[in-house]
Amino acid sequence: MGRAELADETLAAVVAAAGLDAPDTREGWEWRLQCALPWPVYDGYRQRRDECFAAAKDSGDVARLAAAEDQFFAFAGAYPDLCRLFAAGRLGYYDAVLPRVVTRLRRRPPARILDLGSFAGLTTLYLGAAFPDSRVVGVERHPGAVAAAEAARARCGLGNVSFACADFTAFDDGVFDAVVSLQAMPACLLPWLPAERPEDYARGPHLEAALGALGAPAAPVQAVARAVAAVRRLTAAGGLAVLHERVSGLPRALLFQHLLSRAGLAVTDRCWAGWHSFSQRDARQSFPLITATASDGPAPADEGAMIALYALPGGPDLAGLPRLHGVTYSGFQAHAAFAALPGPRDELCLRAGLPDGRRLHGYFGIASGLWAYVYRCDTHDERMMTVGDRGIAPALFRAGLDELGRLAAADQLALCDPPLDKFRYHLGKRFKV
Ligand SMILES: C[S@@+](CC[C@H](N)C(=O)[O-])C[C@H]1O[C@@H](n2cnc3c(N)ncnc32)[C@H](O)[C@@H]1O
Repeated sequence: MGRAELADETLAAVVAAAGLDAPDTREGWEWRLQCALPWPVYDGYRQRRDECFAAAKDSGDVARLAAAEDQFFAFAGAYPDLCRLFAAGRLGYYDAVLPRVVTRLRRRPPARILDLGSFAGLTTLYLGAAFPDSRVVGVERHPGAVAAAEAARARCGLGNVSFACADFTAFDDGVFDAVVSLQAMPACLLPWLPAERPEDYARGPHLEAALGALGAPAAPVQAVARAVAAVRRLTAAGGLAVLHERVSGLPRALLFQHLLSRAGLAVTDRCWAGWHSFSQRDARQSFPLITATASDGPAPADEGAMIALYALPGGPDLAGLPRLHGVTYSGFQAHAAFAALPGPRDELCLRAGLPDGRRLHGYFGIASGLWAYVYRCDTHDERMMTVGDRGIAPALFRAGLDELGRLAAADQLALCDPPLDKFRYHLGKRFKV
């Protein structure tokens, strides 16, 4: 079995000093785990990992996923060898993300850095190597993981690094100039919220209302709120928090940002940080890397900036569209295409409510006298836009109406304004179709 090359030199040096091998294939890594661990440990690891994968697939049951991940780390965190080998399967993550974390921390080199949920210690050791004049502390609640981290620290000889075995939500060692949290929060427990209006991604007042409604101490989201509160409590005023949590999808990212700002962490910077590692099933994953400054009291939250991170810039190049049939866009592209339609627009809009509570708007129109379009959007961020030469308006509008008719026939369109028949009539009259 060969060894994979790590792109980052600091990481390569830490990994070599800690005595870890970077596997070059997933199979090679899995084989190494099987050979190195006693059977009951390997078997226990596999069972818990498979439960994490199964729970991740069952997207309707986030409590199952959070519990599966807790059980996985409680099991792995009891065996230092398993922690060390598991970290080797995660090197692709460290290689892709840690240099970017360091770039953000270098803006204001911190004297004391705290790494939350330090597991086998690689992030903490890396920060210790990247900031030799700083004190770096890793805090982790499972003793076997802390033992693995301590052993790696001893091998690396990094005297500026130490580890504490504690729950970071109760950890108390003063404040730090920078706090780093990499996938240490149960972010899957963030609820999914509908948009405020079908046309926008903003959640607006829904964010505060959701937190109010979910504010009972036992509500799952409180586990995330407690972790966020710990980040703020442990960061000195004016200090930096750098967070890379598994926050999936824009609505949850907006709520997460809102939680941060409510806790006194003003987000100053967000970018995508993607990676590939053998320890996860999906080939490639990407989540926002968030930098925030600790402030006294609630901080502003910029919904637009987070939306811009997810949305695609620009709209379609209408000049390049085929003339005789339309082009269909979905999701963020549809949103951008609708926003980029040149004016003036002549359009009719149908508003409907769906039985699951979402609100849907359907736009049928002609832009600049040249382009016919049908745009459907709803408060669950489903968007579809077909646009083409105005000559195809009759076919395009008919197809759009048929689609709405199918929804109505399946009792999926309630509170239609105007009623579908009236809308069809108005459309025919207005556009002579
Ligand atoms: C997905 S791992 C990520 C580890 C590490 N940050 C990294 O990027 O490799 C999450 C780690 O955070 C630890 N953790 C989660 N919640 C914690 C808490 N409240 N206190 C201490 N450790 C925690 C878990 O035990 C686990 O080791």
